[in-house]
Amino acid sequence: MNNNSTDNLFDDSNVNLNALRQKAYNGRWAEVDEGVIPLTAADPDFPVAKEITQSIIDYLQDGYLSYTPHSGLQSFKESVADYLNTYKNENVDPSLVLPIDSAARGMYIIAESVLDKGDEVIVFDPVDYLFRESSLAAGASISLFPARVVNNRIDLYHLEEYITAKTKMICLCNPHNPLGIVYTPEDLEHILSLANKYDLYIMNDEIWSDIVYKESKFTSILSLGKERNRKTLSVFGFSKSFGVAGLRAGAVYAHDEKIFETIVEKSQVLTTAGGISSLSQIGAQAALDKSRYWVEAFLTHLTANRDYGYERINRMKNLSCLRPQATYMFFVDITKTGLSSTEFTQRLKDEGKLAVVPGVSRFFGPGAEGYVRICFATSAAILREALDRLERWLETL
Ligand SMILES: Cc1ncc(COP(=O)(O)O)c(C=O)c1O
Repeated sequence: MNNNSTDNLFDDSNVNLNALRQKAYNGRWAEVDEGVIPLTAADPDFPVAKEITQSIIDYLQDGYLSYTPHSGLQSFKESVADYLNTYKNENVDPSLVLPIDSAARGMYIIAESVLDKGDEVIVFDPVDYLFRESSLAAGASISLFPARVVNNRIDLYHLEEYITAKTKMICLCNPHNPLGIVYTPEDLEHILSLANKYDLYIMNDEIWSDIVYKESKFTSILSLGKERNRKTLSVFGFSKSFGVAGLRAGAVYAHDEKIFETIVEKSQVLTTAGGISSLSQIGAQAALDKSRYWVEAFLTHLTANRDYGYERINRMKNLSCLRPQATYMFFVDITKTGLSSTEFTQRLKDEGKLAVVPGVSRFFGPGAEGYVRICFATSAAILREALDRLERWLETL
């Protein structure tokens, strides 16, 4: 692979702690006390693919940072559609892709485009808080569906019982953060059939769809047919697979032109009040067009971290977790320690010098209580040290 060699991209020595301490926020290196390891927000500890950096440098060469087209660079929209169609068997039309400043923003725009006051939205519990917050911001109320894991799948048996006359949208996080589960084609068929039967929108978040381990397979709900997905509104992001959270890049895509028009209007790109920067589009396009090799090498690294961490955590006193099928987080059951999620994380940070995310309502919903989330998108050495600290601290309880 000549100068694209991936042999040492994810070596221990490639984690630049000096840079991370200055730049990595959101609960991570720049925000924790000296000496604490933060396995908190899902954000890789490794530098991005060099093609991403180079593309941004090249773009800057002539010194112009002019306005871009309101609804995004054509080449970027084509890259997003190509990537989703090639790697995820979707059927996305570039003219129905809206580049946007983060997946989070995309979720808010989707919610605002289809929800009104009085509408109900089905949000799985637990799941990333952005589904709840974006729906609440649009004036809807939330109906929490308990996402119980049975045989490594989310049990959807009772989902239909949560649909009422007011239900307008179902939120689908595929793969699922924080449970680390991919939906099977049968699960997606079930969700889509219900959405079709009750004429519901689906907010389909595929930001984690690149981080799926070899023995599992990502299926996009969009692969189940274009017409049936007329009311499926999807979002893709770059922060998780390419490690570019600071670029604030994402894309919303739909199948229905009318709904897409509303999305564009609500995004405020037409007034220039909304939208994504030129540099973010250039960097994100380089990620899609030129950095797939990096994601594949990252997955190889993550697989080793996952297997190591899974074995160790499940041998630790009073802890257990599932082996993630996707994502780079362990969702760890701590109930046997007798501590609440908040007490556990606070004490682990103060006494054990390891920061993890508490399973609290604010982040994931009430169903996350009794769990903590541990990110393993770091080096093998840092993960080993972090798990040593966790194990030693557990012995003191
Ligand atoms: C499921 C899910 N959706 C959206 C986001 C937000 O991504 P972005 O950084 O593109 O806003 C995250 C971030 O953790 C996530 O886990």
